[in-house]
Amino acid sequence: MKEANYRPTVAAVKLDAIKRNVQNLKAYLKENTEVIAVVKADGYGHGDVETARAALEAGAAMVAVATPDEALRLREGGISADILVMGPSPEEFAARALQENIIVTVSDAEWVANTAEELQVIPGKLKIHVKVDSGMGRIGLRSEDQLHSLLDAVDRHGRIEIDGVFTHFACADEPDPSRTEEQFRTFMKFVDLLPIRPRLVHASNSAATLLYPDFALDAVRFGISLYGVAPSPYTNTKLPFQLERAMTIETELAYVKLLPKGSQISYGGTYETSEDEWIGTIPIGYADGLRRGLGGHEVLIQGKRMPIVGTICMDQCMVKLSHELPIGERVTLIGRQGEEEIKFEEWAAALGTIPYEIMVSISKRVPRIH
Ligand SMILES: Cc1ncc(COP(=O)(O)O)c(C=O)c1O
Repeated sequence: MKEANYRPTVAAVKLDAIKRNVQNLKAYLKENTEVIAVVKADGYGHGDVETARAALEAGAAMVAVATPDEALRLREGGISADILVMGPSPEEFAARALQENIIVTVSDAEWVANTAEELQVIPGKLKIHVKVDSGMGRIGLRSEDQLHSLLDAVDRHGRIEIDGVFTHFACADEPDPSRTEEQFRTFMKFVDLLPIRPRLVHASNSAATLLYPDFALDAVRFGISLYGVAPSPYTNTKLPFQLERAMTIETELAYVKLLPKGSQISYGGTYETSEDEWIGTIPIGYADGLRRGLGGHEVLIQGKRMPIVGTICMDQCMVKLSHELPIGERVTLIGRQGEEEIKFEEWAAALGTIPYEIMVSISKRVPRIH
């Protein structure tokens, strides 16, 4: 049964934009470099199964998520392609991963040794990607000794196949290339130590994919830019191909009134009309991801920017209208109307954060319309 949606607030996701981003990326990459579509955190808020399917249809070779549960959600949603869990997986997940053909990230010999007994009774081999910490300082092995112990453990285990090896860049979206170059050199030293080069050696996130084509190796893990958003303002000035934004957030005027000069608006009365003002109320608030810090920020109505006035409430907020407008008038919070466009980056700058955080904080209450 279709869920009811009696509120006009929606996040529309253009799956064609995601497909075109993958196609343009593939045209830009060397022929033998695969695309791993990163769809963790519910596809950066765009819907994990839907975006995974779109990316795979457009030519991505596999998908990646952060957690075992995210991988299982994709399998339940009918995604049959290879899935890599990039974050840590507990040892108890090993058997399920093998049964579901999910690839896990492993960075220590102990994990391998501790899963040996359980995996003996299940047919097939568990595929792993070995994680090297080349400078991110998050997960991954950092020494040659650790790598050798892990390789020995894999040999003893007998039911594990090293399908890939990867690392993650910490500063690829910044102008100074030195740390990224150093991380790449460190990573390649580890790759050279492997007795057999695995099927997939990969390092690049979106920023590195866009700025360092020579680091693409066998695959790139394309996350934020799959959804048409540049990883940083610097990256945005260096794009080798155009990115197409996939998400727009829209609602409608739910209530409109003319308030006399001197009227206070919303909690705390922080805004007071300085003349007779047309004020519209829109049904979106901080429980939807429109953070309170965006008070004073703008929305688009009839192709014009109009400011949010007063404190943003949990479910609603008020907009100062340029003139009387009808209930039901379309209001764009993220997206384009005519010549004007409001991007996630604009919200991120206003809130002193990054577009990633904004994208994943559009809450579940906002229906995704694909
Ligand atoms: C290990 C790993 N690879 C790839 C990505 C994708 O990064 P981006 O969204 O910057 O492309 C992430 C996301 O943070 C990640 O954690």
